[in-house]
Amino acid sequence: MQSSTQTIPSSSDVPRHVAIIMDGNGRWAQRRMLPRFAGHARGVEAVRNVVKRCVERGVKYLTLFAFSSENWRRPPEEVGFLMRTFMAALEHEIARMERNGVRLRIAGDLSRFDPALRAKIEDAQRRTAGNSTLTLTVCANYGGRWEILEAIRQLLRDQPGLRADEITEDLVTARLVLRDLPEPDLFIRTGGERRISNFLLWQLAYTELYFTDRFWPDFDAQALDDAISSYAQRERRFGRTSEQVRHPGSIG
Ligand code: IPE
Ligand code: IPE
Ligand code: MG
Repeated sequence: MQSSTQTIPSSSDVPRHVAIIMDGNGRWAQRRMLPRFAGHARGVEAVRNVVKRCVERGVKYLTLFAFSSENWRRPPEEVGFLMRTFMAALEHEIARMERNGVRLRIAGDLSRFDPALRAKIEDAQRRTAGNSTLTLTVCANYGGRWEILEAIRQLLRDQPGLRADEITEDLVTARLVLRDLPEPDLFIRTGGERRISNFLLWQLAYTELYFTDRFWPDFDAQALDDAISSYAQRERRFGRTSEQVRHPGSIG
């Protein structure tokens, strides 16, 4: 992963990496007098549409927040439903992903998932490992702080004698769970909340943030296009002045 705080990444109008907090399933359902579960079920359809649109638009990496390390705090019936939905989605979607060149990865602390689900995850990852059109990373039982702490723990295991002033950004970055992904160019949160909720804390340093009130089940191809259009209008300065960005050769 190239670091936006150390070098200035090149960017274009279409983000290379889009990261999404898929929020608002429960409220989508409640507005329709349906149980929250119905919103999660519809959320899977939104995932399918957004994956398809990302492929069409040439986005190379899509990272979705499906279940946070804090979502275990929800009622057990809802957690159970989410796990079953996750399992069913893996079963139903994997053939399509194989066909469409999507490489699937699940990132997070998988040790808390039951063995049947873990086996499905491994199988899905193995079956799509050779694909390269779009890398789809689904964050499950993931937390940004967990990822950073794990990286630091791993660093100290690798180099037990390390002195405090020898710890560098690169040494930590190289041990992140998501170390293979470039930093996200565009972050989207649906559902109206303006917060990060412990998503990619390390990686979002210079990501463009986009918030929409639309609930996740209503997030379609057009909604993704709107987010990409908003992104294309941003001036990414990475600490420099606007003049420097517009006239790269000039001093100042
Ligand atoms: C996002 O929708 C899905 C998960 C967190 C798993 P929510 O379930 O958070 O929906 P709201 O925010 O309650 O509407
Ligand atoms: C964030 O949504 C996590 C996922 C979408 C998986 P939450 O609904 O859990 O976030 P908070 O609790 O509103 O911050
Ligand atoms: Mg929510």
